[in-house]
Amino acid sequence: MTKITKICCIGAGYVGGPTMTVIAKKCPHIKVTVVDLNEERIAAWNDPDTNNIPVFEPGLSEVVAEARGRNLFFSTAVDEAIDEADMVFISVNTPTKTYGAGIGQAADLKWIELCARQIARVSKTDKIVVEKSTLPVRTASAIKDILTHTGSGCKFQILSNPEFLAEGTAIEDLNAPDRVLIGGDSTEEGKEAMQALVDIYANWVPRERILTTNIWSSELSKLTANAFLAQRVSSINSLSELCEKTEADISEVSRAIGTDSRIGPKFLKASVGFGGSCFQKDILNLVYIARSYGLQEVADYWEQVIIINDHQKKRFANEIIRTSYNTVNGKKIAFLGWAFKKDTNDTRESAAIYVADHLLFEQAKITVYDPKVQESQVYGDLDYLRSRDPQENRFGVKVTSDPYEACKDAHAIAILTEWDEFKTYDWQRIYDNMLKPANVFDGRNLLDVEKLKAIGFQVKSIGTA
Ligand code: NAD
Ligand code: UGA
Repeated sequence: MTKITKICCIGAGYVGGPTMTVIAKKCPHIKVTVVDLNEERIAAWNDPDTNNIPVFEPGLSEVVAEARGRNLFFSTAVDEAIDEADMVFISVNTPTKTYGAGIGQAADLKWIELCARQIARVSKTDKIVVEKSTLPVRTASAIKDILTHTGSGCKFQILSNPEFLAEGTAIEDLNAPDRVLIGGDSTEEGKEAMQALVDIYANWVPRERILTTNIWSSELSKLTANAFLAQRVSSINSLSELCEKTEADISEVSRAIGTDSRIGPKFLKASVGFGGSCFQKDILNLVYIARSYGLQEVADYWEQVIIINDHQKKRFANEIIRTSYNTVNGKKIAFLGWAFKKDTNDTRESAAIYVADHLLFEQAKITVYDPKVQESQVYGDLDYLRSRDPQENRFGVKVTSDPYEACKDAHAIAILTEWDEFKTYDWQRIYDNMLKPANVFDGRNLLDVEKLKAIGFQVKSIGTA
């Protein structure tokens, strides 16, 4: 029986950091070392003030404060941490390829391969290697190939253990997951490795919630779960457009269908479009995999989820332009929110970026306020699109730490993220300091429309006429 006493996790990002923090909290008998090449990120994880850790998640800094230095460590000494561990999690980024074959769709696995080669190079003892990153189905065979051709004589078992946490609720999700999924080989050694990982989670997760499967099912289930979730958002968003034409109300439709227990109420909230680092990347990856097996219909089916999402972002921006007498040239548009959802400082693939980009093509002047996103992040996101010179992004977009300042003298306000604090603002004060007609475009259906209308605002929500 394999008993794990030392874990190494490669990648101290939005998944590696919180996941390992919770394992360390729940398993004080295991030493957990999270390593990363990014020195700045590791320094931030080690900041004496845990409010400065690089990932904002409700409840995370408290758990880091409890476990760090006891059995949780953050380090840039990657080789040492791998070498001493019995189990190595790979939790590095797997973004969409930006070059070569599969550009714009396939997952870029270069960081995964680098990890496998590094594990192979530095290991002096047998190890269980766990895929925590989201990976295309059959990646484990490539990792195994690299590990077994090292000639070091060490034995490696490869497991797939995809992560299902959502940002903003990561600690809740990790403390009480709907399920933990572990895929591995059906050989005796494979089963033993799976059991070792089951035993770790069993420290706090009920056994019946720990599912074991073959490794390919586990890899594919992660892409499938994200595809299903994103598909629900695109489905409801597609119908929000029909509601706007027919005087049906998307919130009422969501409630009406969500009470059917076969459909369920979650993930039916119409919005300006889904964002985040994974939905788009993982669906594109699924589409690419299906096409690579010649499954055109399957690929086209899932691609539609992305097409609707892009359409939703664009039509939100177009609605702002249309309502602004068909021109936003030189007009100040206030953005409340830049993160891809509330309670996170993550902005990857946020709808706000694409709405801003579209409005900048129309020469709007945008002022952004987000309670957790820094100015440099906003500019970085826009520059990454390469739609225009970085100076033009700085000319067209200003970032402020005061929401009232953001809205002052604006022609329109756009709600891009559903931060709770937006509901509590003094909307009369905002109205008084705006240009008239004072338009609010609520991309999250967050605000009390009747209250705003009583003040004098013109309000456009998603999915209502
Ligand atoms: P991230 O970009 O926040 O973190 C990845 C980290 O890995 C970075 O800090 C990077 O410096 C580090 N890294 C890359 N190569 C390395 C190497 N060779 N050695 C050491 N460090 C290296 O990414 P993330 O959001 O944590 O996502 C990681 C994986 O988890 C992805 O595959 C993603 O699809 C998946 N995932 C993400 C989420 C989420 O909510 N963000 C949820 C579930 C699954
Ligand atoms: C999502 C999944 O929910 C996680 O299970 C998964 O682990 C993760 O992706 C991943 O693999 O990265 P995350 O992207 O962090 O988590 O956040 P979600 O809560 O899923 O929201 C994604 C986007 O969809 C956000 O922009 C959110 O605002 C939007 N959304 C969500 C809606 O517009 N409507 C909804 O009803 C739900």
